[in-house]
Amino acid sequence: MRRSNAVVSWSIATAILSLLTVVSLRAGQGPADPPLVSEQYFKNIQLLKGMTVDTFFDAMGMFAASMGNDCTFCHVKEAGFRREAFAEATPRIQRARQMIVMTQGLNKQNFGGRPRVTCFTCHRGDYQPVDAPSFLIQYGVPLDDPNTINFPTEEGISADQVFDRYLTAIGGRPALARVTSFVAKGTYAGFDTGQEEVPVEIYAKAPNQRTWIIKLPERDSLRVFDGANGWLTGPDIPVPIMPLASGNLDRARIEATVAFPTGITQLYPQWRVGKTSIGDRDVTIVQGTKPGLLPVNLYFDDESGLLVRVVRWNETSVGPVPTQITYGDYRAVAGIQMPFTWTATQTYMQMTIKLGELAANVPVDASRFARPR
Ligand code: HEC
Ligand code: HEC
Repeated sequence: MRRSNAVVSWSIATAILSLLTVVSLRAGQGPADPPLVSEQYFKNIQLLKGMTVDTFFDAMGMFAASMGNDCTFCHVKEAGFRREAFAEATPRIQRARQMIVMTQGLNKQNFGGRPRVTCFTCHRGDYQPVDAPSFLIQYGVPLDDPNTINFPTEEGISADQVFDRYLTAIGGRPALARVTSFVAKGTYAGFDTGQEEVPVEIYAKAPNQRTWIIKLPERDSLRVFDGANGWLTGPDIPVPIMPLASGNLDRARIEATVAFPTGITQLYPQWRVGKTSIGDRDVTIVQGTKPGLLPVNLYFDDESGLLVRVVRWNETSVGPVPTQITYGDYRAVAGIQMPFTWTATQTYMQMTIKLGELAANVPVDASRFARPR
């Protein structure tokens, strides 16, 4: 019933790629500045109004993930090649609209309007939700997904203890404090490049400014975080300049802070700790919470003490949508350990950055972090 991930990824890749180009053409004629909400940029929005464009893709990712399929499960196949086609109604789009209304009704009548029931609650990666109980599930070995918002708090370990161990493992606070900027070069591969590796440059300055420039064949694609605001711009971005909002802005803040890790303890006002495993590795989860945002989980390998994964959820009107970033290939640079590979996985996109060279403490001009033009 389900297709292999590879097939799903490829179709989504084509769909997203083609979609983004069309929208940028449209956006050229429309307003160039915020508010960038769904109904202003898309043609046929009947229900999912008032969403920022970045959040709208998270909502579509929720749909695709819930069905266990790709964008063209609901949208016409031509959407992969002709982006306007995303606006075309299909029986499944109509069915999905009914489902949105049904789900909103359920939540309104039973859960005070909180998006407690989502597409995923019923569908769980299957377009035909199962209704009869399964003995395989009831008597089988439970599948433990470490990416969970709710986990039992481990009393007796504080977040500070886990952070201290991590900061020591990567070189210790004094050595970390001496690294105040870096410039790195490497490769980027994602759905938007058809998993082809293209050059990437990263500029970063303590405590939390970071810009990456993906050298796409057409022109550069930029991801900028200036310490408070974030923007995306480039041929793969649906609008000329996309300011980041809520959960996606927070993601940029987390990633920029993790580049200069002594700031990690200040990321969230509240933390709690839990235990889980990723594959056969035992890990400690430190979960940060802050009013107005869904939690973020940081995963530290119990053996090495290193940060290996970050998961955060973005709140959308159709429910919480995860993003996972994994860190690996830690290497020594200027007396500290830095991850040279990281992979971001979203419900509609996956990308990997591999660094080749990294120069610490080189001057980085402030203009690198300015709002792109
Ligand atoms: C379960 C069905 C379903 C899946 C899967 C799905 N969508 Fe949608 N999509 C919809 C519905 C329903 C709407 C219309 C929402 C509304 O009317 O508010 C929509 C609208 C859109 C639009 C707006 C088109 C326009 O111009 O009006 C875009 C763009 C879009 N989807 C992209 C995607 C992408 C990209 C994916 C894959 C990541 C995806 N969709 C997966 C159901 C789906
Ligand atoms: C309360 C449970 C429930 C929720 C919540 C739910 N669905 Fe469904 N959905 C179903 C069931 C059951 C079916 C199959 C109905 C059938 O067999 O005809 C279905 C069928 C569908 C289909 C048709 C699939 C096909 O076979 O072509 C689509 C598309 C769909 N749902 C999308 C969504 C979306 C999008 C959401 C979230 C906005 C959602 N559903 C939320 C229960 C649910």
